[in-house]
Amino acid sequence: MGQASLAVRAIPLLNLRAQYQAIREEVMAAMARVVDSQQFILGEEVRELEKEIAAYCGTQYAIGCASGSDALYLALLALGIGQGDEVLTSPFTFFATAGEIARVGAVPVFADIDEHTFNLDTALVAERLASHPKIRAIIPVHLFGACADMDPLCELAAGRGLPVIEDAAQSIGAEYKGRRAGSMGRVGCFSFYPTKNLGACGDGGILTTSDPQLAGRLGALRVHGSTDKYVHQWVGINSRLDALQAAVLRVKLRYLDGWSAGRKRNAECYRGRLAGSSAPVITPVSTAYQTRHVYNQFTIRCPERDGLQAYLKERGIGTEIYYPLPLHLQPCFADLGYRKGDFPVSERMAGECLSLPVQAELAEDDIDYVCGTIQSFYYESSI
Ligand SMILES: Cc1ncc(COP(=O)(O)O)c(C=O)c1O
Repeated sequence: MGQASLAVRAIPLLNLRAQYQAIREEVMAAMARVVDSQQFILGEEVRELEKEIAAYCGTQYAIGCASGSDALYLALLALGIGQGDEVLTSPFTFFATAGEIARVGAVPVFADIDEHTFNLDTALVAERLASHPKIRAIIPVHLFGACADMDPLCELAAGRGLPVIEDAAQSIGAEYKGRRAGSMGRVGCFSFYPTKNLGACGDGGILTTSDPQLAGRLGALRVHGSTDKYVHQWVGINSRLDALQAAVLRVKLRYLDGWSAGRKRNAECYRGRLAGSSAPVITPVSTAYQTRHVYNQFTIRCPERDGLQAYLKERGIGTEIYYPLPLHLQPCFADLGYRKGDFPVSERMAGECLSLPVQAELAEDDIDYVCGTIQSFYYESSI
């Protein structure tokens, strides 16, 4: 890779148009089918998507809803978690994971993450469980497209009779020892936000479970707790998936495995290029139990992160920091009493993480350009 001779080009973090162009006709036809039917809410398209997602994730049921955030909220509600309860999760995740715990009236309790996987550190989870008798559920997050270490987490939860709610918003299709994200806990929560590996043309979400009673309750809670027309068994919310989104998602689901394979190919390419360069960045680890990583993000670590990000931006390369402020330090959680230093791994990751473009449509020379530019940054910093 040359040092200072790279011509600037534009590589956004994610170029959704590049993905859309290849499937435009199918997407438009699916949308036209829904508009022609004038059936916009739930209905046949959503039922078919639910069947397809359940089959894809290896569960008996899937229940569509309006967003990944609502999926988490509905899961907590359906499991009867609320005021006076605590729920254990990671402080290094998108805000919704903890925000939805607070939204049902419960208190988020955090345990730090493992720096190699960015996911919950099970030894620390065990400590938190021992010191917090009010914990009523555990929400492991499968961050960036790779599963948390589910066997020990599920074992710890079972020891206390606690349900595990998987936050699989970023990890559709990811596998843990051959099992799919969303099929290992009592319930899995997915987001169809457009930047997710399976993204809608707007907001959307889905829950997965193999528990028939829970599935029934979730199906009711998303329509104001209604089991029969105008009969409300519980107080739920309006969180319906619309048919336009379901129709688009059904088209995209057929391409998902190909896109995931492309992301993996690009991740391996980055690993090879960066390992062979003099740039001292740490590339993400895929552990033996993470039998399928779907790379919603390819996140490197380096202490010079902010300088590197600015350098890449000047040269047309889009990157993002997921996440710059861990959840225990968010202003809205100040009254929980956490302080800087409480979760040192999450705090360090917040200062070092940088996500690079990894979508399937990238060409090998795009990755060469990104890696060459990273190497130039370190080269120029050293002279
Ligand atoms: C880990 C995680 N949990 C929950 C969510 C919430 O999903 P949504 O944006 O669809 O509400 C997201 C999405 O950004 C996420 O990344």
